[in-house]
Amino acid sequence: MTEQIMQAIRVYQYGGPEQLKLEDIPRPEPGLGEVLIRIHTAGVLPAEWKMRQGFFQTIFPASFPYIPGSAMAGVIEEVGPGVVSFQKGQAVFGRSTHGAYAEYTTTEVEPPALKPNTFSLLALKPKELSFAEAATLSGGATIAWTGLFGDGQLQKGQSVLIHGAAGGVGLFAVQFARWKGANVIATTSTANVNFVRALGAETVIDYTKTPFEQVVHNVDLVLDTIGGETLERSMHVLKAGGTLISLLEQPDQEKALALGISARKNSFAPTSEHLRSIANLIAEEKVKPVVGKLFPLHEAQQAHILSQSGHGRGRIVLQITA
Ligand SMILES: NC(=O)c1ccc[n+]([C@@H]2O[C@H](COP(=O)([O-])OP(=O)(O)OC[C@H]3O[C@@H](n4cnc5c(N)ncnc54)[C@H](OP(=O)(O)O)[C@@H]3O)[C@@H](O)[C@H]2O)c1
Repeated sequence: MTEQIMQAIRVYQYGGPEQLKLEDIPRPEPGLGEVLIRIHTAGVLPAEWKMRQGFFQTIFPASFPYIPGSAMAGVIEEVGPGVVSFQKGQAVFGRSTHGAYAEYTTTEVEPPALKPNTFSLLALKPKELSFAEAATLSGGATIAWTGLFGDGQLQKGQSVLIHGAAGGVGLFAVQFARWKGANVIATTSTANVNFVRALGAETVIDYTKTPFEQVVHNVDLVLDTIGGETLERSMHVLKAGGTLISLLEQPDQEKALALGISARKNSFAPTSEHLRSIANLIAEEKVKPVVGKLFPLHEAQQAHILSQSGHGRGRIVLQITA
């Protein structure tokens, strides 16, 4: 049988965006408990440029060459042996464990019985969601959900400060917190103030003009998507007994103790059940995904340059199959 070929981006060494190489490579085949997915769209997450630059090399070294990306949406092309949860032809979205900047990917869907130590994050795509919208959920909506409701235990009537509210995580966090019945205060830059207000934030702070601590006091929860001095300063706006969840770094525990707050890095892992709950909220029009700029696969370098800027609105998406 002739080998099937696909286009994919591969990285051979740590470095700048020029390390993203478009190549023709063999199409993967689904193994035990795996499905083969024809990818329509892939979300471009900040973790991917950080991985490419080598920022994670001590904790999570790359195995070169690798295909970047994880968040994707597409259609199941083939199912491997032992697959009972999905069928050929189904439109799906979630996370690929073998890279998403490619025309095809395989991912596990039947763990852990078949393959210990793997985890699956895949769900059927509701027809109300476009493929581009569906690619924004894994690594964006899922992290907002677990950060607020898993790590942060946000309850109805509580107040929450959400940093980076126009970004791929923040835009979902604002909408989920409002849906839960929380009072939402959000930070963003001037260009995104109206956008974040339209997402439902009651108070929007333009961080380029007003230090947030001038406005925010005694909140129950902070969801920090920025880190560094934003994280440090955020510790002071919590009420005693309040909680800070950072997506970036472990907060200073001595300082947290002195302030009488709980501060920690997020640790709740998203599941396929989370994907389904989020997709239902979107199908019911309670929450709206926001696609930022779309790039074709061969412009993955430009997509990374934009992601690396750290500014913008919505999730950047690679449109791989029309
Ligand atoms: N640990 C985890 O599990 C996990 C998971 C997902 C993401 N993350 C991390 O969380 C961060 C955010 O992810 P993302 O996908 O939302 O990124 P993103 O889509 O690139 O969005 C970042 C947002 O931050 C805003 N921003 C930049 N500087 C700011 C500041 N000083 N104050 C408030 N907002 C500011 C930008 O908006 P403006 O244009 O308005 O400045 C932009 O919309 C990334 O560093 C990512 O690696 C961690």
